[in-house]
Parts: sequence; structure tokens; C-alpha cells
Amino acid sequence: MKNLFFNRDYICIHRGEKYYLMNRKTLQKFDLNGDSFEIIRYIHDNGLSKEDLQGLNSNLLSFVNYLQENQILVGDESKRGLYHIKDLRTRPHLLKIFLELTHRCNLKCKHCYTSSGMQGSDENELTTEEIKKMVDEAHELGIWHFDLTGGEPFVRDDIYEILEYMGEKGMIVNIFTNLTLLDEEKIERLRDLPVSQYNVSFDSHIGHIQDEFRGVKGAHQKTVENIKLMRDRGLTVQLNMVIGDHNFDTLDEMVSYIQDELGVHFTADVITPAGRGREYYDEYKYAKTIAYVNSLHFSENKRCLVKEMGDFEAPQQTHCGVGDNFIFVTANGNANLCPSLTYRESPELCVGNLRESSILEIWGKLIDKFGGVDCEVHDDCPEKEKCAGGCRSRAFAVTGSVNAPDMSYCIQYGVDSKCID
Ligand SMILES: C[S@@+](CC[C@H](N)C(=O)[O-])C[C@H]1O[C@@H](n2cnc3c(N)ncnc32)[C@H](O)[C@@H]1O
Ligand code: SF4
Ligand code: SF4
Repeated sequence: MKNLFFNRDYICIHRGEKYYLMNRKTLQKFDLNGDSFEIIRYIHDNGLSKEDLQGLNSNLLSFVNYLQENQILVGDESKRGLYHIKDLRTRPHLLKIFLELTHRCNLKCKHCYTSSGMQGSDENELTTEEIKKMVDEAHELGIWHFDLTGGEPFVRDDIYEILEYMGEKGMIVNIFTNLTLLDEEKIERLRDLPVSQYNVSFDSHIGHIQDEFRGVKGAHQKTVENIKLMRDRGLTVQLNMVIGDHNFDTLDEMVSYIQDELGVHFTADVITPAGRGREYYDEYKYAKTIAYVNSLHFSENKRCLVKEMGDFEAPQQTHCGVGDNFIFVTANGNANLCPSLTYRESPELCVGNLRESSILEIWGKLIDKFGGVDCEVHDDCPEKEKCAGGCRSRAFAVTGSVNAPDMSYCIQYGVDSKCID
């Protein structure tokens, strides 16, 4: 009889030359070598019995003891993970599927890049079974990460079933949510689900500012109540703030409020000019806001920002992974370049539909068409080290080309992109 099993809280990853174990709750990583990966794979597939343990040499036994002491192996079979070995098979590596579960939403935010609202219908949405099939295929390809977004993911009645299934299949799942549709009972249910992080929209500590921006009275209060309930139950919440005219002047107070009253991590971004967010575009204002947002530095654990006041100096950018390591799937199954570069902006930004093609085919098409997409003068730009090429969505919104310079960044770095040969 087997009495040691691989703990479902972990996944074991083989990615190119690298092997590692990852805790799905804390996202803590442990490096492995190829041999230890294969040993874990064997235990994951077969379990270990007392007799197996007796036959192990001392090196193997101490490795197994280490795994047991760290709860990577457990004695309780109900905690066993069965789909938790991930051999990443895609080249280049497809690291994440960003999935819009629905286009429907209970709010109607002024800036929404998907232009979501209750006017949408669920008619053409991927069904529960279609989503499960996508998860199965992702697992076969060794993909372990889903980001779930919308619309509002919690308008779907099958959301718990989807989360459970993703959990069973060894996925790391993050959800983007406005958090207004939950209550204490629903939050209790979430405690058993393997969501690594809830990315919650938060626009202001002042109720009426957020309600006005989000288009529904009372939304702010519900969100704040639920943030506290989730925080108190140990669920990982990160606030996503979008910075614009509605909150720029009160940012300092907002940061203090989040740190003192809510005590959760937060991150900040500017409004992308897509969907209803197009209304807000102003290159110069953007440049200033981006510079400010970038002056909020990540702390060591990368889950919170440490604010640095002073000059808005243009700092080093990082690449978001567009055309490099993720696909964005809209609620109807279309596969697109990124959340704000979809078929809704232009049919050319969609590379197929997952109802008709496999993930592998779609990934091949995306890489053929958009692989390495970048600012076309990046290599010759005097600020090429600092600027990662800007945002392709902003470039597209202004020029109609995903390869154009992102003027908000050019302004910030003092670059005249027209003078670059
Ligand atoms: C599209 S929403 C979907 C999830 C959920 N309904 C929510 O609002 O949190 C995901 C995130 O994108 C942000 N967002 C929406 N439109 C945006 C835009 N034009 N620019 C930047 N962020 C935007 C939202 O504020 C939210 O944090
Ligand atoms: S940003 Fe989120 S909450 Fe607001 S309308 Fe869009 S999908 Fe809904
Ligand atoms: S031209 Fe503008 S967007 Fe392109 S790399 Fe230089 S600063 Fe960045």
C-alpha cells in the first residue's frame, strides 16, 4: 500500500535547461537538478510505500526525508496532486494563458478597455466544457499558469467549477476581479480553491470617486468590505490601481490608506487607450503619469510598491511579454496579442479561435505574425537600454501600427523618434 504522495500545493516544472519546484500558494521556488526532477516525477506518478522506502539508498532516503519534512510529500492521499508535473513543450515558451472568462460585467467603468457592461450576452462565451478542454491541452503542453479576467469573472455561475478544475490540473491561477459580487459565504468557498492571487481593482480611498469611475453607486463599499474579509481569511489580495485624472491628485493619501487601513499589496498602472479607455488618451499627460507610476518602486518580494517621492525621473522599463510568452483569449475563444490588442481593436490582432485550432497551432501563428513585436527603432534608440520599447497597445492606438514608437515613452525619455534612422 502506498503511503507517501506528492502534495497538490506544489508543482514541479521542467522548463528548458531548468528544473524547479514551486509552491502554488506562496509562489516560492526551489531549484532542482534533472535527477531530482525525475525522482519527484516517479513519486508523483506512483506514490511511495514503506517497502519502496526500505529499498532506497541513503542519498535517496535523505532526499525523500527532506521532501517529507517540507510537506512536499504527504501521507494523506486526499491531498495528492495528480497533474502536477509540468514539462514545458512549447518553443518559444508559452508561459501563460490569459483568459477572459466573460465579456459581461456588473459595472460600467469609464476607462474599461474591453468596454464591458451588462449589455453583453453569454451566448458566444466559451462553455465550461470548452474551458476544461483548454486546461487539459495546456497541461499536456506543460503550461501551468492561467490569469483569469473579464468582464467580471464572478458573473459566471460556473466560476467555482472552473477554479476547481484548474486546481486539479495543477495550474497556478490569478484572478482579476472588481470584487463587488462576493459576500462572506462566497469568500468562505474561495478558501478551498487554489487561487494564488486576487488582483482587485481599487481606484480611490474616497468612495464617491471610485463609484463615479466604476459607474455604480455602492461599488466602492462592497469592494472594501470584501478586501477586508479576504485579507482576514488569509487570501492573497493585490490591489490594481489605474492612475488618471480621477485620482492623480489624491495618490499620496490613497497609498497611505491602502497601507494603514487595508494592509494589502498594491500595484499601479496608467489607463491604456483601448475600448472606453481611448477617451482618456493624452500623450503628455500619459508621459507624466507613467513617470510618476514608474517612480513607485517594487519592494523585494515584488508584491508591493514602495513609494519614492521626488523628481519624476524616467526609470528603467521592463518588457511585459507581449508577442513573447503569453496569449490573450477573449470570451468567444479568439486568441489575441494582449488584453488591449484584440480583435475588438482590429481583426488583424486575432490569430485564430481556440474552438477551431489547438493551443499549439495558435501559438505558432502568434509567433509567426507577432513574435518579438517591438518599437521599430528600438535598436537604434539612444535610450534603448532604459526603454523596453514602450506599450504596443498605446503605439497601436495612436498610429494603427503595433511596431510604432510609444510616444508617451519617447516624451518621457526626451527622444525624438522621427530623427532615428
Ligand atoms: C478588464 S478588468 C477585468 C476584471 C474586473 N472586472 C476588474 O475590473 O477588476 C481587469 C483590470 O483592467 C483594468 N483596466 C480596465 N480598463 C483599463 C484601461 N483602459 N487601462 C488600464 N487598465 C484597465 C481594470 O481596472 C482592472 O484592474
Ligand atoms: S474594468 Fe472590470 S469592472 Fe470595470 S467595466 Fe471593465 S470589466 Fe467591468
Ligand atoms: S523610440 Fe520611443 S518607444 Fe521606441 S525605444 Fe526609443 S523611447 Fe522607447
